Amino acid sequence: MPDLTIIQTGDALRQTVRRWKREGLTVGLVPTMGALHAGHLSLIELARAHCDRVIATIFVNPRQFSPGEDLDAYPRTMERDTALLREAGCHALFAPAVSEIYPDGFATSITVAGISEGLCGATRPNFFGGIATVVAKLLILAEPDKAFFGEKDYQQLLVIRRLVTDLALPVEIIGGALVREADGLAMSSRNAYLSGNERQMALTLYHTLKEVTAGLEAGAEPGRLIAMGLERLVSAGFRMDYLELRDAETLEPIERLERPARLLAGGYLGKTRLIDNMPVTPRSHG
Ligand code: PAJ
Repeated sequence: MPDLTIIQTGDALRQTVRRWKREGLTVGLVPTMGALHAGHLSLIELARAHCDRVIATIFVNPRQFSPGEDLDAYPRTMERDTALLREAGCHALFAPAVSEIYPDGFATSITVAGISEGLCGATRPNFFGGIATVVAKLLILAEPDKAFFGEKDYQQLLVIRRLVTDLALPVEIIGGALVREADGLAMSSRNAYLSGNERQMALTLYHTLKEVTAGLEAGAEPGRLIAMGLERLVSAGFRMDYLELRDAETLEPIERLERPARLLAGGYLGKTRLIDNMPVTPRSHG
């Protein structure tokens, strides 16, 4: 097992990566906000399969939370996270202070228009701007060969792909499959907020997505099926922001299933925000 080097400054991060690159090693970056679970660890494993050295980052990014959201309550479990990263064979952890990423006077923000605007972006105005800004900074500081992001946050993955293409950042973005609990609930650091009862209710999100996906793939008309899915979620106690069928590559709304698509959902159960998504494949592509 390699030892886990803990890095707190951007300069030290850059020096570490440059040293590895001089030795001819390839470097993978896995950005996270910590409270690590098997979904995060699957990205570490994927990065290890692709790269000689893997750096995880843990930074609860204030810029992607709106006032009134859960920035202060967001779980911070640094000791456990470091142990998990060590066990997973991660080589370094970049865990900067807020002032290291956003020093006094920091005034730049990055907006990825279009793809950031619907779905989660519709109700969370600061969200994807905050993500694009921090991810750009992490990629510029670390200069990794590859960076890894989960399909759990499908819109985020596409926003980051757009960011990297538009700014010609010299990094390859690799998506990792969504990891679920044994009963189907998408793993999330926010699942820790759910009460026992809510944890049971949360499963309706997975079952509804699965059934709507099966119906769509069998040729049912999307509009009606999605309306029924929304009704079911609302009856189960969700306050839904969206349940939508979108093009899998552009996230454009689609009314008929003719190309690979994605069914995406976001909403609240009590105070907990949950999101999930599934691929939807037209029969002709199956
Ligand atoms: P966080 O929610 O901690 O997630 C870090 C990475 O783990 C993201 O790429 C996310 O998609 C992935 N991930 C989370 N749950 C997953 C699951 N169940 N299966 C597979 N992958 C999963 O996403 C963020 O942090 C932040 O927005 C960040 C990109 C770090 C920028 O601050």
